[in-house]
Amino acid sequence: MDFHKDLSNVGWEEVKRRQLERVPLVYEWMKLADMKQGESVLDIGIGPGVFTLQYANSVGEEGTIYALDKSEEALDFFLRDVKEKMNNIIPICRNAETSLDAVGNVDIVMITDVLHHADSPIDLLRNVYKHINVDVRVLIAEFDKDSKGQIGPPLQNRISKEEVKKFAKSVGFQEVKDGNQDYEHYYMLLKK
Ligand SMILES: C[S@@+](CC[C@H](N)C(=O)[O-])C[C@H]1O[C@@H](n2cnc3c(N)ncnc32)[C@H](O)[C@@H]1O
Repeated sequence: MDFHKDLSNVGWEEVKRRQLERVPLVYEWMKLADMKQGESVLDIGIGPGVFTLQYANSVGEEGTIYALDKSEEALDFFLRDVKEKMNNIIPICRNAETSLDAVGNVDIVMITDVLHHADSPIDLLRNVYKHINVDVRVLIAEFDKDSKGQIGPPLQNRISKEEVKKFAKSVGFQEVKDGNQDYEHYYMLLKK
């Protein structure tokens, strides 16, 4: 399969279709991050935003979702789907490797299937670390490099759990837990 980090070879409609195919993962992610009504969540790299909408429903009207992506096209595509009543979503077009200044205080940071699209995963993690307070739950999920490669990006374009752990540790994160999931995924829960 042809892989472009910026997904320019695929189109957002197709990325959305793929997100919908693995929607059961998002329920596990919300549980792992212990996402609750009224909480504030930074979703980094929303893509078409299928999962972002799930988070918005989960935190409810009292909560806030900072929906961040470096691609203006991704955000435009997402905003077409957002109903007017979803006023708990704050869209932000920004490269998370450069700055998170536009983001307020959060309880949770979701970084799912983003690191293998990032130019510098370690810079992204460093910025998150700098931005958050202690006790913030940071959930990373990625396609596993150590799997069959029957779905998702080619194995050589994935980032291994060991590499993410190395980056996370080097910028200061502590590991809370990690594990494997269906759809050739692994997750990692971190805190400051
Ligand atoms: C495959 S989509 C992931 C969507 C969603 N998070 C998921 O779990 O399916 C990857 C998205 O990450 C975005 N992205 C990659 N690097 C980024 C960065 N440094 N800052 C912000 N967004 C980034 C891309 O523009 C793309 O929309």
